[in-house]
Amino acid sequence: GSFEVNLKKLLDENISPEGQELINVVGKWASQLGMRVFLVGGIVRDLLLGHKQKDLDIVVEGDALVLAQEVGKTLSAIKFIPHERFKTASIILKNGQKIDFSTSRVEFYQHPAALPEVEVSTIREDLYRRDFTINSMAIEITYGHIGELFDPFGGLLDLREGIIRVLHNLSFVEDPTRILRALRFLGRFNFKLEENTEKLLVDAIAGGFLNLVSSARILYELKLIFAEKDILKILKFLKHYGVFQEVFPKAFYEEDYLKRYFNYTVEYFRLLKEMKIPWLHGVMGVYAKNLEGIEEFIKKYPLTGEEEEVLRQGALGIKEALKLLSLSREVKGVEIFETLTKLPPEGYWALYLLLDRFRARERFKTYFEELRFIKPEITGEDLKALGLKPGPLYREILHKIKMLKIDGVLKNKDEEILYVKQNYF
Ligand code: CTP
Repeated sequence: GSFEVNLKKLLDENISPEGQELINVVGKWASQLGMRVFLVGGIVRDLLLGHKQKDLDIVVEGDALVLAQEVGKTLSAIKFIPHERFKTASIILKNGQKIDFSTSRVEFYQHPAALPEVEVSTIREDLYRRDFTINSMAIEITYGHIGELFDPFGGLLDLREGIIRVLHNLSFVEDPTRILRALRFLGRFNFKLEENTEKLLVDAIAGGFLNLVSSARILYELKLIFAEKDILKILKFLKHYGVFQEVFPKAFYEEDYLKRYFNYTVEYFRLLKEMKIPWLHGVMGVYAKNLEGIEEFIKKYPLTGEEEEVLRQGALGIKEALKLLSLSREVKGVEIFETLTKLPPEGYWALYLLLDRFRARERFKTYFEELRFIKPEITGEDLKALGLKPGPLYREILHKIKMLKIDGVLKNKDEEILYVKQNYF
């Protein structure tokens, strides 16, 4: 049964004023329409853990479409998006916030890993179809019942004790992506798998159930893993349960390297801002010890053209940079620049950790801290003022000057102008 716990205070303290206003409107409408309405899933878990709250996930015992429509009208929502088939609806508020309403439902699986059939049900059944007890609690927000915890499967106790536990024996079979979710939560919260849950997880992996899931859904989970704080811990679990090779084909698991790689520092967070596709930084780390393997990753997952490009350029760029930076002969700034400029920032850290010589690392640092920021002081305007006709020549000249600056030949704007006068007139 459920606990006699009231979380009104927790809601008051952890949910923004706008969120509370929303909860009030939703709760009043629900009560007026004779429905019950709940917050469910991750937000309940995170509130109870005292973590910062995120999106509100709302489940309605009744008709989510009707409720969402009324709430939308009251709050002058700018958009109402119904999904008749799934009995869900979203509204978008004036401030751009999106709120999802779903009708409590059970899902029937025709066969393992299939898309479920949907049927309306009670909140209890809605919670029962979910992954783990800690994610299967609800907080009622119907007017007059705000803050009442509904916890039919012992989620609160498991949360207190740090246990990941499935609700029934077919959980991983019905939705094998839960294997990855379980390992992600283990790593994130530092929890343990309950004994039977662990056995079911091991059996599901041994039974090859992950292979029944589309690669797009696996990829989605991998992105979530790479967005976590302690990635190494999750990778260790993937390795421990034999999933690592499956999701990262041809990657070498080398714990010492991964430990250094995912040991995030201030510098890393600075670098992160330069990355076009930050999660690929994670992929580069996993494949750093076998760059050829990246092609297998590209083959396995439905990546965008841009993602593929970053990974390919990353692997190639690292290989070329390793060769150049490790040379025992003198290496010029321009050579370093031209090779490293092809390497996307997603690959910087992988390269850096692969450099085992002091001199090679210093060369990388020169690029990282200086060379890549060098720009000519003169601009197209200056060239025009000198009397050169605008055209493709401008780019060529500016590039040439940049290279000469990198090499230390040109030191200031006067020298740059002199150079142009001497060579292009
Ligand atoms: N859920 C599930 N099985 C899945 C995915 C989700 O049962 N394979 C349920 C869980 O109850 C989960 C909720 O749907 O709490 C919302 O899913 P999602 O937003 O993906 O996860 P959160 O639990 O909110 O986790 P996170 O903090 O990582 O977003």
